[in-house]
Amino acid sequence: MSIIFHEKTKVFHLQNDSISYIMMVLPNGQMGHLYFGKRIHDREGFENLLETAPRPMSSCTFEGDKYFSLEHVKQELPSCGTGDYRSPAVEVKQENGSRISDFQYHSYRVESGKPKLPGLPATYTKDKGEAETLVLNLYDSVTGLWAELFYTIFAQGGILARSIRYCNKGSQPVQLERAMSLCLDLPDCDYDWVQLSGAWARERHVKERRLAMGVQSIGSMRGNSSHEHNPFLILKRPLASEQQGEAIGFSFVYSGNFLMQAEVDAHENARVLVGIHPDTFAWYLEPEESFQTPEALMVYTDSGLNDMSQTFHRLFQKRLARGYWRDRVRPILINNWEATYFNFTEDKLVQIAEKAKECGVELFVLDDGWFGARNNDFAGLGDWRANTERLPQGIAGLAERISQLGMKFGLWFEPEMVNKDSDLYRSHPDWILEVPKRANTHGRNQYVLDFSRKEVVDCIFEMMAEILRKAKVSYIKWDMNRSITECFSKSFGSERQGEIFHRYILGVYDLYERLTSEFPEVLFESCASGGGRFDPGILYYAPQGWASDNSDAVERMKIQYGTSMCYPISSIGSHVSVTPNHQVYRSTPLHTRANVAYFGTFGYELDLNKLTGEEIEEVKTQIAFMKEYRHLLQFGRFYRLKSPFEGNEMAWMAVSEDRKTAVVGWYRMLNVVNDRFTRVKLQGLDKDFCYEISQDGSRHYGDELMNLGLVTSDATAGQTPEDEIPCTDFESRLYILKAVEV
Ligand code: GLA
Repeated sequence: MSIIFHEKTKVFHLQNDSISYIMMVLPNGQMGHLYFGKRIHDREGFENLLETAPRPMSSCTFEGDKYFSLEHVKQELPSCGTGDYRSPAVEVKQENGSRISDFQYHSYRVESGKPKLPGLPATYTKDKGEAETLVLNLYDSVTGLWAELFYTIFAQGGILARSIRYCNKGSQPVQLERAMSLCLDLPDCDYDWVQLSGAWARERHVKERRLAMGVQSIGSMRGNSSHEHNPFLILKRPLASEQQGEAIGFSFVYSGNFLMQAEVDAHENARVLVGIHPDTFAWYLEPEESFQTPEALMVYTDSGLNDMSQTFHRLFQKRLARGYWRDRVRPILINNWEATYFNFTEDKLVQIAEKAKECGVELFVLDDGWFGARNNDFAGLGDWRANTERLPQGIAGLAERISQLGMKFGLWFEPEMVNKDSDLYRSHPDWILEVPKRANTHGRNQYVLDFSRKEVVDCIFEMMAEILRKAKVSYIKWDMNRSITECFSKSFGSERQGEIFHRYILGVYDLYERLTSEFPEVLFESCASGGGRFDPGILYYAPQGWASDNSDAVERMKIQYGTSMCYPISSIGSHVSVTPNHQVYRSTPLHTRANVAYFGTFGYELDLNKLTGEEIEEVKTQIAFMKEYRHLLQFGRFYRLKSPFEGNEMAWMAVSEDRKTAVVGWYRMLNVVNDRFTRVKLQGLDKDFCYEISQDGSRHYGDELMNLGLVTSDATAGQTPEDEIPCTDFESRLYILKAVEV
């Protein structure tokens, strides 16, 4: 990895074994972009990549020169109003009302490693040699506003991390009305755009379309990253597949409002912008104040989407997630939500835990309903003290009973919310986000606490910490069950109301930081009505997230498959629940429910006491299997093999680092009578290893399994021999592959 500066031509070249990123100081003094892609040799002068032409009707920068026009030049920090008619990366409103800025290159520095982003989650380095960071100092002389552009290149993989810090060194205040974290101007638009979108209980479905002229975007203005669109985007060459071809993945390390946009101009250049959504953002900068944008990540690959995903997985597992749980396999848990909803007593919970313990479950999680007057969703949020009618000895007492069973204990919180029917609201009615004199919108009968205020965050921290200090709690499920509306804080003036969405998220991060610092061994699982805030920002604090409130195995295939595009398997919260399923009322075989949930953190969301003896034996076998293979499943190399969005079957697999063991999951939605013979081509094996397959003990070389495929045929439906159990709809199988000596 190196960062090269060619003084004469003012060209910067960041490179490692995989990628090159090249930019230069433009003739007008601003920063221009030249190349991002597969590594190329360095040489003196890449200025030929700055292509200019005397295009008719262009707005030109220099008097008497028809060549240089910002309209056509690729840039690093484009602003608006001076000839570039594409969407800008920065907009600064000034005292006189003008929004024009002109960020001139001033100087640069190179830092080994990667500087922290104050108050914000970001990827990090452990050793200085893991990455280098180029910082470009740019300066707008009229306002005195400086922009520091950060580019971190890691030694390994096609990753580039970017962010910008603005500092007002002028004498007048300015207002940032747009501060995107990343601008990438690509020289063509020959890409497919792939996004992860959906809705509550249908999160992160893979949606694909051709990049086209004009603006296309995804984003959120809900205050969370949202169920609707994940802050993740892929631009892939149309012929690129999971196994081969060029793609660039963009990920935004942020949990609030975001915008990811690609704009294809009339000359088929594509400008990608990633950052905080400008429509709900403005930041007032007094002299000497600064603003740090969140981090945006780009991953380039020329080896297909699986390779891109694996780069994100490793980065998020090793250099985004932190702390005690970062490298540890996740406890197998049982959660009482779908088993009891609000209807439980302490004894009932202990009964559920006892049966779970008998089956091998390690962690019992008490969900919503344990605090204040929380007997339904109209009351109690904000009162984080145990309801002693239900839990006579409080959380400490219940946690002790669970601990005596030999299990860990976990607890649900929804720290950012309040019901009007709560002691917290009665004492602090001014602590919610609301606009004076206007009606306030509720969601699930609850209101949003003003986390932009330190005293609010302090109070919630104290309530949570008190429980964690006294009771044996080793896991927290942190929920967030509504989007934000009326985002107005009574503690800030009118000029700062545009900051509240972002200040709110900074408050959430602050609370996470304080809790994870004081209770470093507590495992945090994030949740927002399922997958409404499943993003890299939260992963920095909570290494796993409840992927969706939809626990149906068939629905989960799509959700988890889509999620795996960016997020590691160790982060995907996945449970076995009852049939008929509570969201789609579908009945699926118990083994299929487990076969899907294994590719995640794994747990149960039901009352095991209600299962038959035979089913309990099956559950015991499932748990034993997961204990044996969870390290491989959660931390191995994950490959998508067959997409559930494209046909009746889906397949994926995980391979150990030494390639000696692999687990393949194969799934079929509907049964097919007299079906064709089928095979699945595996990936990631060692072509020279001979693997024994658990299903039938047969042996095959890696090259055979990867090129000819694993035979998955099952043409028996309708004619099942008497000694075989007939397959049904929603059938699935796991194949365990082990390398053997031959
Ligand atoms: C949300 C979560 C669920 C459960 C309920 C409790 O919907 O996603 O898993 O915790 O809240 O109210």
